[in-house]
Amino acid sequence: MKNVFRFSSCQAVKRSRHSRAALENLKPDNLTTLKPPIVIAIDGTSASGKSTNARLVAKALGYVYVDTGAMYRTLAWHCLQKRVDVNDAKAVAAACRAWKTKLVCVDGEFRQTRLLVNSYYPDKEIRTAETSAAVPHVAAVPKVRDWMKKKQRECLQFGNLVMEGRDIGSNVFPETDFKFYMDAALAERTKRRAADGVREDLAKRDQRDSQRAAAPLMVPLGATVINNSGQTPAQSSGLIIAEVRRKLAARAKAAARHG
Ligand code: DC
Repeated sequence: MKNVFRFSSCQAVKRSRHSRAALENLKPDNLTTLKPPIVIAIDGTSASGKSTNARLVAKALGYVYVDTGAMYRTLAWHCLQKRVDVNDAKAVAAACRAWKTKLVCVDGEFRQTRLLVNSYYPDKEIRTAETSAAVPHVAAVPKVRDWMKKKQRECLQFGNLVMEGRDIGSNVFPETDFKFYMDAALAERTKRRAADGVREDLAKRDQRDSQRAAAPLMVPLGATVINNSGQTPAQSSGLIIAEVRRKLAARAKAAARHG
C-alpha cells in the first residue's frame, strides 16, 4: 500500500495493463478506473466550502468521499466522553492509542468512509459546539496526526478518493497530482457558518490550524487555489472536475505515447 504512488503516472498506467488502443478510446469518465487509485486532495480554511465541493466532486466522478475533519472530531468527542483533558497532549495521545475503531465505506448518494468507535458512528455528536471547541486541541497532537495519517492512507483500500482536510495535499498524500486549496473571504465564510446555525470565530480557528507545529494548514506545493467567494458550489466543483479530467486525459495520452 505504501508504495502505491512511488512511480510516475506513465508507469502507473502501464501497470494498469490498458493497451494503447484501449487508452485512446477511453472517455475522461472511464479514466477513473485507472490504477493505482487516484486521490483528489481538497484542503482549505474553515467554511471555505470544502465539504460541499468534495461531495459534489465525489458524486460526479464516482469516487469515495473522505471527511478527515470528521475523524478528528470523532476523537475529540471520544476524549470528552472518556473525560480525557483535551489540553493534555499525552492523555489525548494515550486515548488515541487505545480506542477501538473500524474504518468502513458506506453507500448512499455517494460512497463515503466512516470511522466507527466501538462499532458506533457519532454523526450528530461530532458537530456540537463542545466537540468543535475541543477538536483543534486534539488535532494539534503529533501522535494523533500520525495515527490519522495512517488511517487516512488506509482509505485507498476503498478505491479512488476525494479527501478533504487541512494537510491532505501537504502531508497525507503529498505525492498526488490532484491537489486543490479552497478559500473564500472571511465575511462570506462567517455568513455560511451562520446559515448552518453555527457561530464561530473562524479567523481564530484558521490561525490555530495554520500556526500549529504539526502538519499546519498551508497551500500544498502544486495545488490549484480556488477562491470561491461569490461562486456557487456547482461553479467551484465544476472547476475541480474540469481540472481533474484534463489531467487524467493528459496522463492517458502520455501513457499511450509511451505505450
Ligand atoms: O473541517 P472540520 O471543521 O470538520 O475540522 C475539524 C478540525 O480538525 C479543525 O480544527 C481542523 C482539524 N483538521 C485538521 O487539523 N486536519 C485535517 N486533515 C482535518 C481537520
